[in-house]
Amino acid sequence: MLVIAHRGASGHAPENTLASFRRALDMGAAAVELDVHQTLDHELVVAHDDDLKRCGRDKRRLKTLRWQEAAAIDVGSWFDKRFAAERLPRLEEVCDLLPSHVELHVELKHGSRVYPGIEERVVDLIRKRGASSRTVVSSFDHEALYMVRSLDAKARIGYLLGLTTLKTAWAEMRDIAAESLNLSVRQALARTVKAARERGYKTLVYTVNTPMDRDRLAKLGVDGIFSNYPELDLWR
Ligand code: G3P
Ligand code: MG
Repeated sequence: MLVIAHRGASGHAPENTLASFRRALDMGAAAVELDVHQTLDHELVVAHDDDLKRCGRDKRRLKTLRWQEAAAIDVGSWFDKRFAAERLPRLEEVCDLLPSHVELHVELKHGSRVYPGIEERVVDLIRKRGASSRTVVSSFDHEALYMVRSLDAKARIGYLLGLTTLKTAWAEMRDIAAESLNLSVRQALARTVKAARERGYKTLVYTVNTPMDRDRLAKLGVDGIFSNYPELDLWR
């Protein structure tokens, strides 16, 4: 079962920062997940929330900030003073950091309705970096996934179920040739994992931070887990 470092090794360093991605690599993570937003001037930035209230003590929405303004915000101190130098990474910086054997899961927090042109920018970047075969684009915003598919016939797509019914999910996943159904721990029931497998889809489950949950999900035949603790892979 693949262990995907969720927002980097976010149990050890501030989430979605270069420090957390470096830490995940140091820990031998085989895969890394991150979340993407877009600034007013169309830079792709790596952060989880629409604003930096939680991780940067700044209320402004990322879509209202220019890259230069966003890049000035300290996104590390909230976690620990030691990380006061951490700044918002751009997606391209993280792409450049990851060695070619590490799988990258790029979660689009919103599609073009919020961030005009974001799908095209992400697809272009992945292509330019020659990272198409090791990058999976996922989103709760399924319209964005349709857009990704229309831009790149070969894109690897993960379908985050969210509040969508399974019936709709199967139809949409087929339309866009998704490769995985991405579920929360609560949604990861034996029958759902089985139904996905029967349809030829992998299942990836978030956020799994204990060996007990990991082992339970492994028994169900889940293909991967998103974890803040990449060492879950080594605790076997
Ligand atoms: O992609 C899996 C997981 O990251 C989805 O939830 O809120 O942690 O981005 P969230
Ligand atoms: Mg995410």
